[in-house]
Amino acid sequence: MAAELTFIENADLTRFNTLGLPARARFLAKVSNEAALLHVLRSVTAQRMPVEILGGGSNLVLAGNVPALVIQPCLMGRQVLSTHGDAVLVEAGAGENWHAFTQWTIAQGLSGLENLSLIPGSVGASPVQNIGAYGVEIADVMHSLTAIDRLTGARVELAAAACAFAYRDSLFKSRAPGRYIITKVRFLLSRKPTIRLDYGDIRREIERLGIVQVTPRAVANAVIAIRQSKLPDPTKLGNAGSFFKNPVVPVTQADELRLRFPGLVSYPQTVGVKLAAGWLIEQAGWKGRNQGAVGVHDRQALVLIHRGGGSGAQLLQLAADVRASVLDKFGVVLEQEPVIWGR
Ligand code: EPU
Repeated sequence: MAAELTFIENADLTRFNTLGLPARARFLAKVSNEAALLHVLRSVTAQRMPVEILGGGSNLVLAGNVPALVIQPCLMGRQVLSTHGDAVLVEAGAGENWHAFTQWTIAQGLSGLENLSLIPGSVGASPVQNIGAYGVEIADVMHSLTAIDRLTGARVELAAAACAFAYRDSLFKSRAPGRYIITKVRFLLSRKPTIRLDYGDIRREIERLGIVQVTPRAVANAVIAIRQSKLPDPTKLGNAGSFFKNPVVPVTQADELRLRFPGLVSYPQTVGVKLAAGWLIEQAGWKGRNQGAVGVHDRQALVLIHRGGGSGAQLLQLAADVRASVLDKFGVVLEQEPVIWGR
């Protein structure tokens, strides 16, 4: 079992969360195959120890020490499984780096994941919050996944339709948190590119870069350039991407707000209107503001940052202050995107 399982007691999680918040886990187990994962699960079930699953730690706030066994699935591997005409089914292990995987699919001549370039995190974590950017989300391209069901201890295959995907949400995040440990994810991609430029910024960036032939590679390059210009690199400045979801409000409330705030950035939905939380936070005066070691990013107000030496409690206090002032100014409730451990 040795090579497939690394077990650390009182493990420092600082470098396992992209916010770089200091905290310790009672135990950390890194497993690199299914047998090792099942072995760990059998022992924790026997000891009735709480379990948390760690991906790339890029959607996580550590509010304090974690009195649990933290399991990090590090199953690796990526492969083309089958081809039917232009449709190609690919699979990646949960431990693969998300961005590296998207770039590998593009190098294989496949289209589908280019808009999701440069999102931090692991393949196994990608369905949990239904990662999305620039007009595409996992729910659009995922075929199915393999997981261990902790209720039964059995391996299960779940089709995308069974994952209850919603905006930054899934079965794994809200309906049955902790029940499934994702080990492999499959995506249905295409050799015939479907170019998605509907998200305003991409089209502008493609024009700015002077790209004439819009290939998946070109779209990925545009997405990478936009992300690098707005979003801090977590290896240089602690952050967890967007800290809040973009709120959806009733049409009547959006209309009222637009009368009072003509610059309101909004997107009509099937039901209600989605507001740009970054705009609300900026208008409430928070963009670029620091509160000790934490702050609101100066190029994208939806991103909270940790410059080092701070704590999860300080970050959550800042989040609460931002939320209170947006509620006060606009009457809109912001919902947090990352999950919180350790409180
Ligand atoms: N805006 C401001 N000020 C700001 C930030 C945004 O006025 O400080 C306004 C701008 O008008 C801008 C609009 O808000 O045009 C939307 O901003 P942006 O394109 O940066 O996207 P977002 O809605 O803030 C969402 C996702 C991001 C994703 C981008 C691109 C959520 C919570 N966030 O951000 O996802 O990369 O769209 O698709 O849905 C993440 O979830 O961690 C994440 C980074």
